[in-house]
Amino acid sequence: MKKKNKETKITEKLYNDIVKDEWKRLVKNPYQKLEFDTSLFFLEKYLPKKGIVLDAGGGPGRYTIELAKRGYEIVLLDLASANLEFAKKKIKREKVDDKVKDIVQGSITDLSKFPDNSFNAVLCLGGPLSHVSPKKEREKAISELIRVAKKNAPIFISVMSRYGVLFGTPGGWPEEAENKKNLIDLVEKGEDYNFRRGEGYCHFFTSKEMEEMLLKNDIKIITKVGLKGLNIDKKLTNRFAKKLPKAWKNWSEISLKMSTDPIVVDASSHMMFIIKKASLSR
Ligand SMILES: C[S@@+](CC[C@H](N)C(=O)[O-])C[C@H]1O[C@@H](n2cnc3c(N)ncnc32)[C@H](O)[C@@H]1O
Repeated sequence: MKKKNKETKITEKLYNDIVKDEWKRLVKNPYQKLEFDTSLFFLEKYLPKKGIVLDAGGGPGRYTIELAKRGYEIVLLDLASANLEFAKKKIKREKVDDKVKDIVQGSITDLSKFPDNSFNAVLCLGGPLSHVSPKKEREKAISELIRVAKKNAPIFISVMSRYGVLFGTPGGWPEEAENKKNLIDLVEKGEDYNFRRGEGYCHFFTSKEMEEMLLKNDIKIITKVGLKGLNIDKKLTNRFAKKLPKAWKNWSEISLKMSTDPIVVDASSHMMFIIKKASLSR
């Protein structure tokens, strides 16, 4: 791995410190589960029937295990070694070790360990790209994720949304607005050095910004998805799901249907871009 910059170091430390939280992140309540269920819905829709998948920034391995159970071969890569140690145990416990072909510590900005055109699909889910700085490195990461995919392979990249975090601020973390400079940096540049109360770095994207970055490569955009659908406020969403299960079921279906609407994409805390590699890398 190349020399790590300040942002990479704080990201690595953060994720080494919160492995168990990360494992629970996608299943701990109905609001969080929206991201998992919506991602799985679109993975099922666009993944090839079989093949080898790179789970880049795969953390403690939620998607790795889920896809291994569905018969895919997987390579798991993450920056944080504690995530990978945790994933190894889970993979063994879930008896999918034969499907997990490699577990690699590394950065999405340098996938030189993998040859061009080698994966049938590539995942970069839950916002790993949002922790990469500066912009040039984010561009490098995108070109690496595309380079290692086979021609026509789907690539699923989710990032944290600038409007999503702003819509979520009044209900979720109003105290963030106390530091005016941070708030202005977030609004104007998407930059947040106060992520998780100062423990991390995060870049929040607009869908326009992400789209422009992706289109510097030879790809086609299949679709964009707001992974939380019509749900912006965590507390209200969880209360709704708990108190009115029947209404929640109907609402979740509509929310999923609306998740590709451009307004919903930007308003959601996480946005997923599903792209297809259009030509062979040489
Ligand atoms: C919110 S977690 C998502 C984990 C998993 N993909 C999921 O959705 O459950 C973000 C992950 O990105 C990883 N990450 C951050 N920067 C990275 C980088 N430059 N290269 C690889 N992984 C990175 C972190 O270590 C962390 O595991």
